[in-house]
This record gives sequence, structure tokens and C-alpha cells, in this order.
Amino acid sequence: AKAKKAKIGHLGSLRGQRVSVSGWVHRLRNQKDIIFIVLRDGTGYLQSVLSGKVAQTYAALTLTLESTVQLHGTLQAVPEGKTAPGGHELVVDYWKVLGGAPGGDEAFTNRLNEKSDPSILADLRHLVLRGEIASAVLKLRAALLSSFRDTLVSHDLLEVTPPCLVQTQVEGGATLFKLDYYGQPAYLTQSSQLYLETCLPSLGDVFCVQESFRAENSHTRRHLSEYTHLEAELAFITFDDLLTHIEAIICETVDRLLANPTTAALIKQLNPNFTAPARPFLRMSYVDAIKWLNEHGIQHEAEDADGNVILDEQGKPKMVDHAVGDDIAEAAERRMTDILGVPMFLYGFPAELKSFYMKRMPYGDGDVHLFTESCDLLMPGVGEIVGGSMRMTDQDELSAAYKKEGIDPTPYYWFTDQRKYGTCEHGGYGLGVERFLAWLANRYTVRECSLYPRWPSRATP
Ligand code: 4AD
Ligand code: MG
Repeated sequence: AKAKKAKIGHLGSLRGQRVSVSGWVHRLRNQKDIIFIVLRDGTGYLQSVLSGKVAQTYAALTLTLESTVQLHGTLQAVPEGKTAPGGHELVVDYWKVLGGAPGGDEAFTNRLNEKSDPSILADLRHLVLRGEIASAVLKLRAALLSSFRDTLVSHDLLEVTPPCLVQTQVEGGATLFKLDYYGQPAYLTQSSQLYLETCLPSLGDVFCVQESFRAENSHTRRHLSEYTHLEAELAFITFDDLLTHIEAIICETVDRLLANPTTAALIKQLNPNFTAPARPFLRMSYVDAIKWLNEHGIQHEAEDADGNVILDEQGKPKMVDHAVGDDIAEAAERRMTDILGVPMFLYGFPAELKSFYMKRMPYGDGDVHLFTESCDLLMPGVGEIVGGSMRMTDQDELSAAYKKEGIDPTPYYWFTDQRKYGTCEHGGYGLGVERFLAWLANRYTVRECSLYPRWPSRATP
């Protein structure tokens, strides 16, 4: 019978039939007269058996891992007591090699494992991706993105695609990638927030999934130079509405993933102990967080006025208690979420620590509005995965904020105009997709959660 061409993921309905499947040799076991191949084609894994004449060819005896092959044969249920992906195996009656791969010492499969030198793993990312873990992470990433989209659309947000080439900053001039744009200065976008704000009057609540770029010299396990940024902006909301919305989006997105057997299985494979977070999330003000850190003896490195770490007599960084006004650094944040063990909102950060556009809280220290209607969502094991805030609505207040930040307002005229042509209470947030995935899939670093991660001095492959 003519073999029916099929992808491994769709073989379920073809039991007992003759099929043709092409893919890569994922695993290979040569046993006397019988060869077992686990074939991989991106949609799944297929156990295949070559025996008799088809196993006694030169091609069969010299077959190597990662070669591409085309297998023809009958798809049979595996005998009782044996297991195989999908519960079936292909009994091959005809096959050919489509493309060989180096075996022996040259085979990357012999050289790569979790303990390999990280720089070799980074150089060979294109081959690492062929591994079961890396491909599971990327499949979960795809499901996560579509689940986020479905959830946001179900909340009546419209997807837009803002530009990546921009002439304005959002999160501070120090982390901009600058480029020459037909002789003019331009940047790779840090955040699409300002553009999302301009969509509210015509499109209503909006979101985008866009690459953001940060020229941060951070070699931590949660910083990338390019990351996928999911951002949303909502009109006529209060700060409390914003927090409740973020919580809903996160929880409903996770619920959608768990409701789908395929993605639930990916989560189980990567993060066996995962449990969906409970609502409402813990909410702690910045001022309470400072107290909490001090009560728990979590200190930070002392810095001088120029931001240089102060060393003690032994040459180690001098550790000091937190004070209101201090940034809560990554290490402190991580210890806090590790101890509390649940997702939590930190809110009400001092204006000094946050971006120029953030709305001040309606109370403060005397006449000085010290704190902002801002929030970070922290997840156990990762720390900050979301940053959001309410935005300034008053044109004069925004003008003063530009001045304080040292921003020339000229290129921001379109952003300022939002306050001029019918201002409104609004707010939004940005979520780091790789950080969210690191939490969901229990990955050590965001570098595992990006197809081709970029970090300082790494833009290859
Ligand atoms: O806290 P950030 O800087 O906030 C903004 O950009 C706002 N303008 C977003 C908005 O309100 N529309 O970044 C938002 C999130 C962070 O919480 C983090 O998850 C992620 O983006 N992020 C990074 N992820 C990986 N590598 C980096 N270097 C990141 N910088 C921020
Ligand atoms: Mg932030």
C-alpha cells in the first residue's frame, strides 16, 4: 500500500496503516539485528523499529544521531507492558537517509549536556534547541503567548504593533541602544508604553507583544538585552483596578494553559511542582517592604554618593539596613519572594526611583508627593516580572517631570498631546515574557526562555 505522509504529532488516527514519516534521529540503539530509532520532527517523538533486511544495510550500520531520515512502515500499537510516545511504534519496511550528521567525537550530542561550558552552550544554541528540554520550553512559550493574547482579547483589549525604531526614551536614557537613523539619532525601543497611551482615544484598551531593548550591563539570570515585552494600557481605571486587572490576566492565562492537556503536560514535564497561584495576590506597600526587609535582617550593599559599593575592612561589600528611598535590589527582592513563596505586588515606590511619567499618590510627605501609583509584581524564584503604574494626566505636571528628568520635551510632543486633547485617568503595565516563562517552567535563567538570547557581548547565533 502507498504510505500516507504524516507528521508524528498527528499519527494518532493512523494506527494500523502504512505511513511515511520524515524527521531527525533523536535516539539510536543498535542491537544485533535490530535498530531502534526515536524519530523527532518537531511535532513529537516516534519510536521506530528496523529489523531484518532493512537493518542490515551499510546506511543502517553507519547511521548517526541527528541525521535526517525518511521512514516508511506500519504504525502498530506497542505490545502490552512496553511504553512509547503516543503508545505506538513504526515497524519500518523501507527507509532512506536524507542527510547525514557527523558521528563520534564531532557529534554535538556527545559534547553537550547541562554541565557543558555555558559559552559553548551559547555558541551552539542552534543545536541545543534540538534537545527535549529546550524544545519543550519553546513550545510552552508559544502556548503562553497565545494564551496571553486570548485572555487579553477576552478582556476587550485590542492588539496593536508599535514601532521598535523610536526617538524617545521611556525607562531612562542610560539603557538606550542608540543608532544612526538616516543621520538622526534614534533608539531601539525600551517599552511601547507611550505609543499604547496614544491608542486609548481611538482604539480603547490596547496591548502589544513587542521586543524591547535594554543596554543594561547586567549579567544576571533575569536580564536580557532584547526581550519580549507584553504591555497593556487601560483608560478610565483606578490604581486598584490596575492591580486587579494584572492579577486576573496572569491567573486566567495560567488557567487556560492548564485547561489544555498538551500545555498542561509541558508544564508538568518542566515544572512538576507547579500550582496555579491563588487570588488575590499579596499586596505590600514599598514602605512596608522596607520594614519587612529590616525585620528579616535582609540588608543591601552600601553605596557612596556616586553609586560605588563601599567595602569593609576585609574588602567585602559593607552591608547596611534598608531605608525609605533605597532601591530594593534584585538579591533582596529574591530573598523576599523566596521567604513569602507566593506572587506579590509591591506598590507605591518613591518617585525618585521610578520613571518620569508615573502618577503621584494622592498623599505624601507634607506637600511633597513622594510616592507613585506604581507596582511591581514579584514571583517566587524570579522576582519582578511585571512593572506598571498609573500615568500622569496633567500637562503641566508632565512638563515639570520632563524637566526634572532632564528630558527635552520636543520629541515627546505627541505624548504630551495626550494630556492636551482630552486627558483621562489611565494606567498600564509591562510583563517580561521570558521572566514569566522562567517562573512558569521553573528555569534557572531567562536565557533558557528566549529562542536566541541576547545579553552583553552576545548577539550570536
Ligand atoms: O519595569 P519595566 O522597565 O517597565 C516598563 O518598561 C514600563 N514602561 C511598562 C509599562 O508600563 N508599559 O519593564 C517591564 C518588565 C519588567 O517587569 C521585566 O519583567 C521586564 O519588563 N524586563 C526585562 N526582562 C528581561 N530583561 C531585561 N533587561 C528586562 N527589563 C525589563
Ligand atoms: Mg521595573
